Amino acid sequence: THVVDKLFEEVAPAAHTPHRKVTIVGVGQVGMACAYSILQQNIASEICLVDVVADKLKGEMMDLQHGLPFVKNCVVKADTDYAITAGSKIIVVTAGARQREGETRLALVQRNVDIFKGIIPQLVKYSPDTVIMVVSNPVDVLTFVTWKLSGLPRQKIFGSGTNLDSARFRFLLGEKLNIAPSSCHGWIIGEHGDSSVAVWSGVNVAGVALHEVQPNIGSEQKDPEHWETQIHKKVIDSAYDIIKLKGYTSWAIGLSVAKIVFGFFANSRNVFALSTNVKGLHGIEEDVYLSLPCVLDSNGITHVVKQNLNEIEVAQLQKSAKGLLEVQNNIVF
Ligand code: NAI
Ligand code: 2OP
Repeated sequence: THVVDKLFEEVAPAAHTPHRKVTIVGVGQVGMACAYSILQQNIASEICLVDVVADKLKGEMMDLQHGLPFVKNCVVKADTDYAITAGSKIIVVTAGARQREGETRLALVQRNVDIFKGIIPQLVKYSPDTVIMVVSNPVDVLTFVTWKLSGLPRQKIFGSGTNLDSARFRFLLGEKLNIAPSSCHGWIIGEHGDSSVAVWSGVNVAGVALHEVQPNIGSEQKDPEHWETQIHKKVIDSAYDIIKLKGYTSWAIGLSVAKIVFGFFANSRNVFALSTNVKGLHGIEEDVYLSLPCVLDSNGITHVVKQNLNEIEVAQLQKSAKGLLEVQNNIVF
């Protein structure tokens, strides 16, 4: 401190509350892909990492810190003690078990519920006004669990949901149509995973609905080109395929989370497919979490877009909700 005292004349103490503080819980493949994307895109002013494995946590923190001279201003901190998370504006939870080859997301549920019981109350204790985005799987059920454990209002708790599935869908549409994925407009809603619903009635390029070009597009029986099996089925298989090939998925979820966190800090009111409490929508009457297009701002989710789903899509969505509800009802808190 000798040099510091000689070098500086203090005018006022340094500010302690960063205005764009994000905490990431879990520094595994997913947590670090989120952290790296957020850092690289200058989205946060402070990235705070938490995990139970102290050495790995410190190693990841140091590795990111050494990149700080190459990016715009950001502080990177890490600790196993949740006190470090105080004052977070948004928290991304990626902690917990991931699927082994061939395992479903839903099979992880009780293991990760037990982990969440130790995490969520700590987060709320130190950041009572925070927004929490759940990423750990099964993301929809764990978002419901986080809502229950946190006691926070509905708008503050959401899951990364089918924002990733929708990105996979748009990538595959882009490949098939030979245009940029960002110019293919289509939404996957429902469960993040096996019972997700492709909203074929809304898929469009430049406002031209594909179902007006081919009325049976996406129909399992009637579509001569089998877009459901060629595109949506591939979306569902994506995670299974990648896990078989490289053991885990990381980059796309990291970029997806970064985009959502950006929208949150920018108060952008972008619409994302996020997992939210859908009670009262599309004929679903229970407190069940699944993805629908949501308006996000710095308050959290302020509105859900009421899509004009056709009968088949509503039936598929209700089936997805029913499956999730069964899992939800079997959780031991
Ligand atoms: P990983 O095994 O690489 O990392 C998990 C991390 O959680 C580890 O660092 C572990 O130490 C930490 N952890 C475990 N218990 C903890 C606790 N009580 N408190 C704090 N940290 C704890 O797993 P990976 O690949 O990063 O996946 C994480 C989760 O994300 C999995 O549940 C996976 O299924 C899910 N996932 C979700 C996606 C989505 O779209 N929603 C996409 C990809 C993965
Ligand atoms: C994914 O879809 C496994 O949920 C993870 O990549």
